[in-house]
Order: sequence, then C-alpha cells, then structure tokens
Amino acid sequence: MKVAIGSDHAGFEYKEMIKKYLEEKGFKVIDKGTYSNERTDYPIYAEKVAKAVVNGEADRGILICGTGIGMSITANKIKGVRAALCQNDFMAKMARKHNNSNILCLGQRVVGTDHALSIVDTFFSTEFEGGRHEQRITLITEIEGLN
Ligand code: RB5
Repeated sequence: MKVAIGSDHAGFEYKEMIKKYLEEKGFKVIDKGTYSNERTDYPIYAEKVAKAVVNGEADRGILICGTGIGMSITANKIKGVRAALCQNDFMAKMARKHNNSNILCLGQRVVGTDHALSIVDTFFSTEFEGGRHEQRITLITEIEGLN
C-alpha cells in the first residue's frame, strides 16, 4: 500500500516516527513535507496529501499537526477526501469500518507516541464494512457534487 504523509512543524516529529514505522512494515511512504521543525502552515501539506490520495498517487494519507484539527478541516475541502481526526483506536476503527476514511489525521500535541502508532495500525488494518454505510458515502459524494 502507498501512503502519502504530511505534517506542519507541530507534527513533524510524529511524521518522521510514523514514516519510519510504516516503511519498516513494508508500506511505500510518499513524504509530502514539511521537512524540518521550522514554522510553516498546515494547509500547504494537507492539500498536497489530499490531492495525492484523490489522484491515485497514494492509496491513503496521514496528516499530522498540533491538534489534527487544521489538517482535517483543510483536507476535507478536497473532493473525494474523507479525512478523519482520530484520538483513539475506536475512532480509527470506526473511521474505516463506517466512513471508509482515506486520510487519518492526528494531533502530535494530543496523543502519546505509542498511542499514535496504535491508531495508525488500527487505521490500516481495518476494512470498510460497506452495506448500509456505502449508501451514506454515496450521499456524501452527492453533496460534493453540489459544490
Ligand atoms: C500550529 O501551532 C498549530 O496551530 C497547528 O499545528 C494545528 O494544531 C492547527 O490546527
């Protein structure tokens, strides 16, 4: 699986940690920046990762900022993105099972390191349930078509 990853300065350390973790597990990780701790603006990276996911360069994405909020707000502006801000394994599981989320957002200032890796594991090991949830995804897609 190909994963696009991005962060701002406040998520940089987790981006590096998660990138290494996923590469060791055999994922192909496409790093869209930022590439240092220098202060920058999260929408730049949210847009890059979101576009990589919808254009097929990556199968899924991960975005990290201080809270994960700015990343999720921005990524969800791109049609076809279903970015989910997850603070625990239950949210990551449901984001996949019910929402067929294609981008995981995390807050480096919110969740601890072990916890963050566990959320990543859950997000990538849980499949979409389909069924009644498919119809709801279709409704989201119809709303996107109105904009
Ligand atoms: C940066 O200080 C911080 O505002 C940003 O990383 C993020 O938390 C915004 O949602």
